[in-house]
Amino acid sequence: MITAVSIQCPQRPKAVNVAFLGADSFEKIQQAFREAKSQLSEILSAFELMDSYSQDMVHRVRQNKRPLDGEHPFYCLIETSGSNTEHDAEKLEKFLEDVMSKDIIADGVLAQDETQIKSLWSQREGITECVGHFGGTYKYDVSIPLKDLYRLVDETRERIEAAGLKGDTDEFPVVEVVGYGHMGDCNLHLNVAVRRYDKRVEEVLEPFVYEWIGKINGSISAEHGIGIAKKQYLGFSRNDTMIDLMKQVKKLYDPNGIMNPYKYI
Ligand code: LAC
Ligand code: ZN
Repeated sequence: MITAVSIQCPQRPKAVNVAFLGADSFEKIQQAFREAKSQLSEILSAFELMDSYSQDMVHRVRQNKRPLDGEHPFYCLIETSGSNTEHDAEKLEKFLEDVMSKDIIADGVLAQDETQIKSLWSQREGITECVGHFGGTYKYDVSIPLKDLYRLVDETRERIEAAGLKGDTDEFPVVEVVGYGHMGDCNLHLNVAVRRYDKRVEEVLEPFVYEWIGKINGSISAEHGIGIAKKQYLGFSRNDTMIDLMKQVKKLYDPNGIMNPYKYI
């Protein structure tokens, strides 16, 4: 149905800088985020969250050297994009000094060249693959107000442990519960790595995760869409009136239901 498209292509930013930081709590990561927004403002292009569990998985699978010498409960990756490498690097360095002197960040490293930029990003982007390495992953791509964002991961891990399902064996198949995501978008990826898919695990996770998100007015789907698996849970984050409106819009453009068939609407 698309009859014309015009694409505006902004120039690729000339200067990209990346820092990888470790912090002692999720509270401190939030403080770092606030500082990054105010100190790096227009050049801040990514603020990515990673918990220690996700980084342990990457290390376990890849057996690579970790970016920082010590280990921390939380990490974040900060990327800046602008037009002047030196100017941006200076800003990022100043930011790093500032958050370290205020004891917000425990340790940090700045990428010195393109190879290091790629390697730091790979600590973040490699999580999905490494989490899936053991057999399967239960994935939740959700949106939650920042202050509560990580609480869902902690509570999910507690439930899995309380049910005695975390064993990293065939009988008790949960390997780990990890949280990471695009903090700048309030977008959390809650992943449960398993040796194999198991009804008992599913019963601990659902509808718990959806109810939890419904209660705090989050969204059960953030960047990956509703698709098929989440079809029956949309009601936890969208009311009937909103769903009806979505259906009306879809019907207007696609009266015969031939576009993106079998999905939610
Ligand atoms: C990521 C994908 C899962 O952020 O959205 O790694
Ligand atoms: Zn993502």
